[in-house]
Amino acid sequence: MSDAQSAANLPAVSLPTIGILGAGKVGTVLARLLIGSGYRVLIAGSGAPSKIDLIIDVLVPGATTGTSAEVAAQADVVILALPLGKALPLDGREAIPRDELRGKLVIDAMNYWWEIDGVRDDLNDPFTASSELVQEALAESRVVKAFNHMGYHDLDEGPVPAGTAGRRGIGITGDDEAALAGAAKLVDAAGFDPVFVGTLHDSFLLQPGSELFGANFSADDVRATAERFPASERGLELEAQRASALDDARA
Ligand SMILES: NC(=O)c1ccc[n+]([C@@H]2O[C@H](COP(=O)([O-])OP(=O)(O)OC[C@H]3O[C@@H](n4cnc5c(N)ncnc54)[C@H](OP(=O)(O)O)[C@@H]3O)[C@@H](O)[C@H]2O)c1
Repeated sequence: MSDAQSAANLPAVSLPTIGILGAGKVGTVLARLLIGSGYRVLIAGSGAPSKIDLIIDVLVPGATTGTSAEVAAQADVVILALPLGKALPLDGREAIPRDELRGKLVIDAMNYWWEIDGVRDDLNDPFTASSELVQEALAESRVVKAFNHMGYHDLDEGPVPAGTAGRRGIGITGDDEAALAGAAKLVDAAGFDPVFVGTLHDSFLLQPGSELFGANFSADDVRATAERFPASERGLELEAQRASALDDARA
């Protein structure tokens, strides 16, 4: 049997269906990149699908719109690309469909941005990274942080095939090996080198204020920048905030 014949006899490995919650700047770029790599992509905004049908037709041909609950239920992997404050509302309302995400890989591409989210001490806690709060809210999902630190223009313009010189890297954090591997495949499929930079708790190093936030670096530079985070301005500031909070608690 020739190689071609034996390959033809292998069962086709189907790609997971990707759901994206958030049909704004980042959600539409990621949807386009993943459709370009052959994934089936479902996408939701905050309301009825009819509100985004036209824009998705234009910006992301091939994507299917749905409500958040429909997208979360039908997807194998879900990317959160909505404002963090909307995902974790202060009134405790369930804004992300938790039941539909049970057991699934959830990629948190969100950031705390006070101009959008309002001033929220809970989302800016020096002891708890924002993705840990997302994991807490989705306790039965496997949350990985990825796609959050690169601006949407760079995400849109940066993708190149694996192995291309100068390919950009995307930092990924998480606690679950299989979930990290799943997220890495999507980062690679989107056109970037996946770079594991720590646990979900370590994801302070990808959050706003860090050197990596906004970075459009090679994988080596992402890795090196992550390694020097503890000694960076933001790393030292975080340590000082923690020490001061502990002093206050003891006083
Ligand atoms: N902009 C960037 O360069 C960039 C890069 C990396 C990561 N991020 C992060 O990605 C997130 C989204 O940023 P963005 O710039 O794409 O924002 P954006 O352009 O304002 O889009 C936000 C999207 O989220 C939707 N949304 C709001 N509440 C929702 C809900 N409950 N369920 C589903 N969708 C909901 C909005 O729908 P409606 O219009 O119907 O409200 C809108 O489609 C933020 O956390 C941001 O920090 C942004």
